[in-house]
Amino acid sequence: MLQIRKLTVHYGPLPALKEVSLEIVRGEIIALIGPNRAGKTTLLLTLSGITETTEGRITFEEEDITNLNPHQIVSKGLIHIPQGRHIFPTLSVLDNLLLGAYVKRKEKGEIEKGLESAYRLFPKLSERKDQRAGTLSGGEQQMLAIGRAIMGRPKLLMLDEPSLGLAPRFIEEIFATLKKMNQTGSTIFIVEQEIPLTLSISHRGYIIRNGRILKEGAPSILLESQEVKDLISI
Ligand SMILES: Nc1ncnc2c1ncn2[C@@H]1O[C@H](COP(=O)(O)OP(=O)(O)OP(=O)(O)O)[C@@H](O)[C@H]1O
Ligand SMILES: [Mg+2]
Repeated sequence: MLQIRKLTVHYGPLPALKEVSLEIVRGEIIALIGPNRAGKTTLLLTLSGITETTEGRITFEEEDITNLNPHQIVSKGLIHIPQGRHIFPTLSVLDNLLLGAYVKRKEKGEIEKGLESAYRLFPKLSERKDQRAGTLSGGEQQMLAIGRAIMGRPKLLMLDEPSLGLAPRFIEEIFATLKKMNQTGSTIFIVEQEIPLTLSISHRGYIIRNGRILKEGAPSILLESQEVKDLISI
């Protein structure tokens, strides 16, 4: 579904990603794991067309999407849930969800279908649809950020550290939902520092450090690797 070939990204003179290659097959949950400043967010921003590629190539469903703009990329079904969630705190839960359907606004029935899926996965969003989003708990805001992404009818859902700042019971709930979404057909790319939990729901994982992929493989192999043991002990 997605192929990244030798992707290099610079901020000014400094490289944040160095010849990163990665691929995602339809139906997989793929994890990208690494410490702070490894380049995880940069990779998602580049896939979304927000940060510019210096060298390399990104293809999605056999089409070259390197350096398309964010609007074009969202329209193709690559939907990014940013680090820190970025919901609109003064808008209602429902209005936040509707904003996620912007690219689908002209397609008949898509908004209703999106709301139905978001509310089915997160019944709390339906109960609180008229509440200001800023009054939700952190866990509920993450659910809203995922719900908003679902409104864009993603083919590939990309999440940047969804566990950040959340209480353990919310983290478990979010991860259980991601697994459920995958079992009903969603392809998911998740960037995380919560290593064992993320690998427990993933089909494969990549380890990134200092802008380079250090290792790729099945969760059981990664968990036994020195690279992951080193990261867990940081
Ligand atoms: N807008 C920017 N301008 C300049 N340098 C940046 C910018 N954003 C990130 N960087 C640098 O690029 C490198 C990778 O940062 P990035 O945010 O991608 O890492 P990360 O793995 O997402 O880290 P974290 O776990 O802290 O979220 C870091 O050295 C960072 O300082
Ligand atoms: Mg980050």
